[in-house]
Amino acid sequence: MSLAAPFTDIFGSPPTALASAPGRVNLIGEHTDYNDGAVLPAAIDRYVSVALAPNDGSAHRVRSTRFGDTTERPVGDPKRDDWSDYAMGALWKAGALGWCTGGMDVLIDSDVPDGAGVSSSAALITAILRAAADSAGVSVDPADIAKHARAVENDYIGMPCGIMDQMAVGLARKGTALALNTRDLSYEVVEIPAAWTFMVIHSGIRRELADGRYSVRFEECRHAAETLGTAALCLLTDAQKDAVAALPDTLRKRALHVTSEHDRTLAASAALKAADLDTFARLMSESHRSYSEDFEASTPEIDALVADAVDSGAKAARLTGGGFGGCIVVLVETAIAEAWITAFLDRHPGTWRV
Ligand code: GLA
Repeated sequence: MSLAAPFTDIFGSPPTALASAPGRVNLIGEHTDYNDGAVLPAAIDRYVSVALAPNDGSAHRVRSTRFGDTTERPVGDPKRDDWSDYAMGALWKAGALGWCTGGMDVLIDSDVPDGAGVSSSAALITAILRAAADSAGVSVDPADIAKHARAVENDYIGMPCGIMDQMAVGLARKGTALALNTRDLSYEVVEIPAAWTFMVIHSGIRRELADGRYSVRFEECRHAAETLGTAALCLLTDAQKDAVAALPDTLRKRALHVTSEHDRTLAASAALKAADLDTFARLMSESHRSYSEDFEASTPEIDALVADAVDSGAKAARLTGGGFGGCIVVLVETAIAEAWITAFLDRHPGTWRV
């Protein structure tokens, strides 16, 4: 739906810019992005769209098509743990970059579920930054938008995420995956073979990145890296790899996951390019085992869903995103995909297709 007409109805004049960004699913490469490693996310066919315009006032007015009222907050208002924080953070950054000077009116429409680990917040922040730049007549490189969007999460929201989600929602296209090196932001867009289908299924367990467990893992990785004498846990020398075994148990397990996940992700990108389904599937399964046992970011319910997905004919499945709930991503041969998911959802009433 175009937001121009509803925006004009609500705020009294037309928007100066419209923009949108998709959600994303990570195929493999979990918690590698803030450790200078590889990731392989793909866009999903769900979008956050925004319309905006300057309002000549000193407050931002933010409205979502999901809720019936407009939230009004002063320019520069700090985070207050409200749904409008992501919009406020994006506008704060747009203001700091000179893309808006006073208050802005923003209308948001989204079918990207939140709390599902499919980057609804990165998509919202990215869409607002794109629209704000466009409204100011500024042309911005997508990688720079991604860096600004990450800064909103890190500095305004207080979530110490890496840059995978922001790069994915800014650069991935439907039907492709983004093989991204998070150290230098070089990337390759890789076609997903037509015979492969990635299904995204919500486990029914809601997750909140800001609930603290993500940050605990972030700190554990930082601690492990410091102890090993590096800033890049994914890029250890042979001597540093040998030293992993001597880390305290928790740090050792976190480091084992992150370093092996980086290697798996590089191998998975190569397998995707070669359309090597069996290798890709094996790497996804190993990734889930590592994420669950070494990184301890899964739950027994999610482990059971992953196991049943494979037992019932999927090639592989794994928990995707920041961990502790949200979605699994399942690799199924396209020929059986629809029949497979119908039967799977029937067997697991609390789950749904994203
Ligand atoms: C969240 C974060 C990302 C990344 C993933 C885990 O989505 O926002 O930066 O760390 O978790 O891979």
